[in-house]
Amino acid sequence: MDVHRRLLTEDQSYAGVRADIENLAGLYGGGGSVAGRSGVTQIPVVVHVVWNTAAQNISDAQIASQIDVLNRDFRRVNPDVNGTPAPFLPLTADARVEFALATTDPHGAATSGIERRQTTVASFGADDAVKSQATGGMDAWPADSYLNIWACQLGGGLLGYAQFPGGPAATDGVVILQSAFGTTGTAAPPFHLGRTATHEIGHWLNLNHIWGDDGTGCSGTDNVADTPNQGGPNTGQPSFPHISCSNGPNGDMFMNYMDYVDDPAMFMFTAGQVARMQACLDGPRASIGTGTGGTGGTGATPRQSSSPVVAWGANRLDVFVLGTDRALYHKAWNGTAWAPSATAYEGQGGIGTSAPQAVSWAPNRLDVFVTGTDSGLFHKWWNGTAWGPSLTGYEALGGLCVGDPRAVAWGPNRLDVFVVGTDRGLYHKWWNGSAWGPSLTGYEAMGGICLGQPEAVAWGANRLDVFVIGTDHALYHKWWDGTAWGPSLTGYERLGGICTSSPKAVAWGPNRLDVFVTGTDGALYHKWWDGAKWGPSNDGFERLGGICVGEVEAVSWAPNRLDLFVIGTDSALYHKAWNGSAWSPSLTGFENLGGISTSRPRATAWAPNRLDVFVTGTNGALFHKAWNGTAWSPSVSGYESLGGVVSCF
Ligand code: ARG
Ligand code: ZN
Ligand code: CA
Repeated sequence: MDVHRRLLTEDQSYAGVRADIENLAGLYGGGGSVAGRSGVTQIPVVVHVVWNTAAQNISDAQIASQIDVLNRDFRRVNPDVNGTPAPFLPLTADARVEFALATTDPHGAATSGIERRQTTVASFGADDAVKSQATGGMDAWPADSYLNIWACQLGGGLLGYAQFPGGPAATDGVVILQSAFGTTGTAAPPFHLGRTATHEIGHWLNLNHIWGDDGTGCSGTDNVADTPNQGGPNTGQPSFPHISCSNGPNGDMFMNYMDYVDDPAMFMFTAGQVARMQACLDGPRASIGTGTGGTGGTGATPRQSSSPVVAWGANRLDVFVLGTDRALYHKAWNGTAWAPSATAYEGQGGIGTSAPQAVSWAPNRLDVFVTGTDSGLFHKWWNGTAWGPSLTGYEALGGLCVGDPRAVAWGPNRLDVFVVGTDRGLYHKWWNGSAWGPSLTGYEAMGGICLGQPEAVAWGANRLDVFVIGTDHALYHKWWDGTAWGPSLTGYERLGGICTSSPKAVAWGPNRLDVFVTGTDGALYHKWWDGAKWGPSNDGFERLGGICVGEVEAVSWAPNRLDLFVIGTDSALYHKAWNGSAWSPSLTGFENLGGISTSRPRATAWAPNRLDVFVTGTNGALFHKAWNGTAWSPSVSGYESLGGVVSCF
């Protein structure tokens, strides 16, 4: 709570972000949760051992013992859960979270998930000094991919402390006293069962103290419905029942991990607490852990923005096109067959003037955007059961747009949409889970005079990068860092080039961007952000060869993996890939995938080493081909016809 109060004064955005997170938690706690993560979330952990005396340099075995405790406590398979008093036992729940030492470091290199440093600092406090190399500690790894745990000496009787979700990434994680860490080595009774980390990770997943942090009063709440109102913290090893705040006959749930009792006396989370932790994993910690992301990413963080083709899960494809009547049509691959059939479409009404743009923020969730004949933006969504507002109806989102909107979902129930207006300025609107900002039909004006379509991508939660081409045909960039637009609301970073296509961007990992355009010679050009600088230079590009017609498609199915598709001057589809160390078939070479395309290529990757590519053919029908990890089907140059007469894709 000291850290929480300090962040309220230090971090301008923290209070607002915390309020949003609390709202989301309320939705889940009330049972009104949207489809979130199913199954178990695996959280990669890095342990930073910061030691002063040799004894504090805890062993790998002691660290392993702590991970084991977490994997018992957060799955409700700790044997002592059976000691929960009978009235509380039915409330105990599996948090569906598991932990593993990271195997890949932020640079993609193999790691043990443990790093160590000797420090001259004899003992740390709750001021976050241990989280920075400069102050005698060790820097955090990217908090959207890793749980950071610091094990060190702490002063003042402090066993550990945590940062709630919504705080700065550089200090995100938990700090644990080395002698309250794990179950072996230096772990000392009565804090020798690894429960300090269980408790602090509870906070990291947004749990409050069970007594409501109001001192010893009865007016505080942990905002969890199934924990009793309780006066103050309990310590030691109380005996059941311990009554406070008229909470008899069962009294305080002092055996909860979020009380202050000794390690042997705490052994359960409740179902309400689990709902809060899962809300956190769907919201502010959406990018942590694995799972089927909406667009082939890890967790819910998308690697690419909206497209007429989207995969909300493994072996699932949804494709949207405009027909000759300019109405929206949809077809889906369910893993076995195309619905409504191989060549048929579900009609979804409307009269569109742009390519439909679909995005998915959760399994079985789709949001589709299209520009209408009045230049307004229109939206419809699939909630897992039905189309909203109706099969053929649309939500009118106002605006005066030219061309394709671009949508990106950086987390569950979060949408950001970018359009170019009739004045060629860039405009933005967003869905925050409950309402459209700045209003249902309003837009945030972001300046610029844009050629072609905007591009938007999110490499992490509450992070947006937007690219446009300016009237000088150079590439321009702006970004949302969670707090503000850089370089300013209406300003842009100029990234050079003379571009003849709209930009296409992909983020294969946190703080990583790859951008593709075509140049005046028709060749494909590439530049990348490596977390610190633009490569090959601020305004330079890597030339990838080819003579391309129209727009570039780029997807990523794994960190440091890129697949590019372009149409050549012979109207055939061409492909090249970055495998982490080189371009194949060569820097400037392409694999010819045949066909005669009349549209730009659209691709998606629903799993590692899986690619699905779509184009329209000379007869107007939609065509599809897939890479299954070993071969192209139906063949290198062949296509599956998906029927229809497509006017816009
Ligand atoms: N931040 C709390 C403290 O330092 C952690 C309490 C953990 N309790 C436990 N039994 N391990 O007091
Ligand atoms: Zn606490
Ligand atoms: Ca209280």
